[in-house]
Amino acid sequence: MRHSLATHRVQFMKYQIREVVDVARHIQTLDPTMNIEWENIGDPIAKSWHVPQFFKQILVDQIEQADDKAFGYSHSRGIPATRAWIASHINTLAPGASLDPEHIVFTNGLGSAIGMMYEMFAPEARIILPTPGYPTHISMESSSSDAPPLLYQLDPNHDWAPDTDDIEAQIIAHPDIVGILVINPNNPTGAVYSKETIEKIVLLAERYQLMILSDEVYFRMVYNGTIHTQISEIANGRVPLLVMRGMSKDVPWPGGRCGWIEFYNVGIDAMFDAYVSAFKQRILMEICATSLPQFIVGAVYDHPEYPAWLSSYNTELEKNGNMIADVLSQTKGLRVNRTNGAFYMMPLFESGVLNDRQTLSIENDAVRAFIEQKVNEPGVALDQRFTYYLLGATGICVVPATGFYSNEYGFRLTTLERDDTKRASIYSRLSDAIETYLNSTSNFS
Ligand SMILES: Cc1ncc(COP(=O)(O)O)c(C=O)c1O
Repeated sequence: MRHSLATHRVQFMKYQIREVVDVARHIQTLDPTMNIEWENIGDPIAKSWHVPQFFKQILVDQIEQADDKAFGYSHSRGIPATRAWIASHINTLAPGASLDPEHIVFTNGLGSAIGMMYEMFAPEARIILPTPGYPTHISMESSSSDAPPLLYQLDPNHDWAPDTDDIEAQIIAHPDIVGILVINPNNPTGAVYSKETIEKIVLLAERYQLMILSDEVYFRMVYNGTIHTQISEIANGRVPLLVMRGMSKDVPWPGGRCGWIEFYNVGIDAMFDAYVSAFKQRILMEICATSLPQFIVGAVYDHPEYPAWLSSYNTELEKNGNMIADVLSQTKGLRVNRTNGAFYMMPLFESGVLNDRQTLSIENDAVRAFIEQKVNEPGVALDQRFTYYLLGATGICVVPATGFYSNEYGFRLTTLERDDTKRASIYSRLSDAIETYLNSTSNFS
C-alpha cells in the first residue's frame, strides 16, 4: 500500500454490546457445553418474542401485491404516502406539534440515520451527549468531530434523570456545542423522563440557541405508571428539533432496518434549515431506504390488534424488569434503579468495591486461560474485567457500563428474557456471582 488505508477516526468507535459477542462465541468453541445467556443485545426476536400474527399477515399481503412495488426502489426520502401517514399519526399523538411530511426522511434503521446525522454537522459543531449513553451516538458524534465526546451526566441518584445543571455548565464551557441529544425512553438506563425534565432541556436549548436531537425509538414502551412526553409538543415553535423513531423495537422488527428522522420547527432558524437541506441532499446518496417496511408502517400501527399487543408487551416488560430489579437491589455492592421504559437496566457497583485482583473460578482450563488473557489486555476497565469473569464462569453475557462511556462502574442488562424460571435462575446466579467476585479479595466485606 502506498499509504495507510484505515481512518484514525476508528479510535472513537466502540460498541461493546456486540464486541462481547465474539468473546462469548470463542468461549463456546473452547467449551461447547457452555450455555451463553445473551443478556447483552436489545433484540426481542433473539429473546423468543414472537412477531404478532397480524403483522406477518400484513407483510405477506404486501409481498403478494401484484404490482411488486415493495421490491423496487422507493422515493429517496421515503414513500410519500407513508410520510403523510406518519405526519398525521404523530400529529395526533402530539397535538401541540406540527410535523410536515416533507420533513420526514426514512433510513435503513436508526443506526444508519445516526451516522449520517452527525456526519452532516460541520466538524466544529458539537452535540452534547448523555453518559452513560447509547454508544452509536457517542461513537459517531466523536468520530465525525474527530475529537473526544462532550458528555453530560445522567444521575443515578435521581432515577437516571439528565443533570440539567451539568448540561448548562458544559454548554457554557464549550461554545462549540450546537445541540443536545436526548434519549427518551433511555438506553442504557431504562429511564423515562418527566415532563419537567423535558421542559428544562427545551428551555436550555432556547436560552443558548441550540437544537435538540431526540432519540425516541422506544417511545411506545413505557410502564410502571410512567408516561412518555413528546418533546415535539413542548419544543413546538421554540427550538430546532430532530426526532428519531423506527419500527425495530415496537413491532418488533429490528431486522427490517426501518427508521426515520422527523425535522420540526423548520423555518425558525436559517442554520437549522441549511442543516435539514444538507441532510436531504446526503440521503440522495443512499438511493432509498429499504422499501418493504415503508409500505406497511401505517397498516401495522393502525391495525385493530396492535394496541392490545403493545399493551401485553409492556405488561410483560414491566413484570420482567421489576423482578430483575428486586433480585439485584438485594445484592450487596450494587445500586439499582428499576426500568420504566425500553428494556434495559444499568446496575452500578458501589464506589470502591471493584479491584483488579477479583476473580471467579472457571472450571474449564482453556476458558480460564482465555479470560485471564482478556482481562489483562491493555485498557480493560474494572467493570469490563468483571463482565469477562462473569461470562467465563457462568455464561451470562452483559455489557460493562464503561462500554456506554459511563464514569461509574456497572453493567447493562436487557429485561427481555421471557421465561420466568430461566430469568429467575439467570439473575440469582448473577447475584451470587457478584457477591462471590466482590468477596474474592479481602477489601470487600
Ligand atoms: C437508543 C437507540 N437508538 C437507536 C437504535 C438503533 O435502532 P435501529 O434498529 O433502528 O438501527 C437503538 C438500538 O438498540 C437504540 O437503542
